[in-house]
Amino acid sequence: MSIDAIKTVAVLGAGTMGNGIAHVFARAGYSVILRDVGQRYLDRALETIGKNLDREVKKGKLAESEKSSVLARFKPVTDMAAIASADFVVEAVPEKLEIKRAVLTEADKTKLQQAYRAAQDAN
Ligand SMILES: NC(=O)c1ccc[n+]([C@@H]2O[C@H](COP(=O)([O-])OP(=O)(O)OC[C@H]3O[C@@H](n4cnc5c(N)ncnc54)[C@H](O)[C@@H]3O)[C@@H](O)[C@H]2O)c1
Repeated sequence: MSIDAIKTVAVLGAGTMGNGIAHVFARAGYSVILRDVGQRYLDRALETIGKNLDREVKKGKLAESEKSSVLARFKPVTDMAAIASADFVVEAVPEKLEIKRAVLTEADKTKLQQAYRAAQDAN
């Protein structure tokens, strides 16, 4: 798969790193499936992303009219099966090996085809 074939990115974990990574991908025009274990984490992430977009609008880095288009690129989900259409998957869950292993194993059980994978760590 070529890099140009990437259209949809899944971000696993919507915390500090996850919402920032998701924001950057959506700003760059990608569809973003944002996955976390509870709706409240997704709501919090989208609220943070909205505030950060507002900050960009204030600084003149983003047109006000574009904010809703960026937000429309997000698909917040709790069901891991919903990431199956992603071409690129970024893991951003807590720095605990057992959590990372479980999340990546669960992700691999979905129908991900040739998706690229990327992971975060503390180093
Ligand atoms: N925060 C930083 O400044 C920073 C910098 C560099 C690297 N990192 C690394 O990035 C990774 C994420 O860190 P963070 O600060 O964003 O953590 P965080 O605690 O802010 O966010 C982690 C998110 O993952 C979610 N999560 C927990 N279990 C999950 C599961 N089973 N499936 C899906 N989501 C799950 C949590 O609900 C939470 O929303 C870690 O490996 C960390 O070491 C963080």
